[in-house]
Amino acid sequence: MLSKRASTITPSITLGISSKVKELKAKGETIINLSIGEPDFLTPDKVKEAGKKAIDDNITKYDAASGNLELKKAICEKLEKENGLHYDTDQVVISSGAKHSITNALLATINPGDEVLIPIPYWVSYPEMVRLVGGEPILVQTKKENGFKVTLEDIEPHLSDKTRMIILTNPSNPTGNVFNKEELQKLVGALVEKNILILADEIYERVVYDEPFTSIPTLSEDIYNHTILINGLSKSASMTGWRLGYSASNKELAKAMGSIQSHLTSHPSTITQAASITALRQCDEEIKHMVATYKERRDLILDFFKDWGRLDIIPPVGAFYVFVDIGPLAEKIKEDSLSLKVCDDMIEEHKVAFVPGIGFGQDDFLRLSYAASLEDIKEGLKRFKTYVENLLED
Ligand SMILES: Cc1ncc(COP(=O)(O)O)c(C=O)c1O
Repeated sequence: MLSKRASTITPSITLGISSKVKELKAKGETIINLSIGEPDFLTPDKVKEAGKKAIDDNITKYDAASGNLELKKAICEKLEKENGLHYDTDQVVISSGAKHSITNALLATINPGDEVLIPIPYWVSYPEMVRLVGGEPILVQTKKENGFKVTLEDIEPHLSDKTRMIILTNPSNPTGNVFNKEELQKLVGALVEKNILILADEIYERVVYDEPFTSIPTLSEDIYNHTILINGLSKSASMTGWRLGYSASNKELAKAMGSIQSHLTSHPSTITQAASITALRQCDEEIKHMVATYKERRDLILDFFKDWGRLDIIPPVGAFYVFVDIGPLAEKIKEDSLSLKVCDDMIEEHKVAFVPGIGFGQDDFLRLSYAASLEDIKEGLKRFKTYVENLLED
């Protein structure tokens, strides 16, 4: 009954963890959830008000397929002001979440059999999305000593005449690491010279702590023309459920993505789009407050791992995740998947949820999300330390 496409698709491991947490909570258990991939803040009140007003003002009819013009203007203003990027409104396509923007981008560029480079560790959905559009995901192992930031050296053995695109996530989910300008220049410059397209997923770009953020299309005109920039409001404005993502690219690609979207979903909800104009133009303070709060939590976690001194982490510079090296536990755990076993033990025995690194292609790590209260983070870390110490002393 199923298409080949549907029969090979695997369910999202992160959603699997969420179901497990829900199942345990339904049984009356209290779970410390450090597995969550969404901000723990509410959508700013101003945005909610704008959404309600849109309903009262009857902004409830079809709009332009590639997105509302006023919202496109607000996106162009944001890109100019915050990222130093100039785009015209006809280079922007607004979709129902960054996930949908990425799907449009792949549908517009990937032919069956085209190869798409995806550095490991990767965000769980990329390989499946590439397969869904008929492309071939080429997984590229990166190195812990480089903070898992992919280098040209990592990529070179995987290049072929079918290489069409690379997906770069900056800041990274799951590592929280961020490329600096020089690293990007070297890497992206060389790939674009080979006519490889860059899908730049910058959804966490507002959540960066220590360094200025470099948006990939700012690097050169050639890079700008070869890049499909992906962003959205899920993470920055805490609007995950509203579903608002966008792409910015050259006009030819934007036109194609708009046409594809016109036949699939038309456009995101008009109510969401109206509220998003407010999120982009009036929520700077709220976003700064969220980022300052994440930074406080990040600092606490850095101190915890430094004081403990038992396990390494990739020191996070952005997003709200810490990637923890559980490799040393392999001497005690002889299961097929180290990270699944550790995360299973943590949730079953210690009531703390993490995401196993295997979901990101890196089984000797786990992902801790600090989109959670300081209290929960402290308690979750304490229980994790107890688990690790007991295991290693056995
Ligand atoms: C790297 C990355 N890209 C894209 C998305 C999807 O964002 P959206 O909720 O806007 O579809 C996520 C969500 O977790 C993500 O982590």
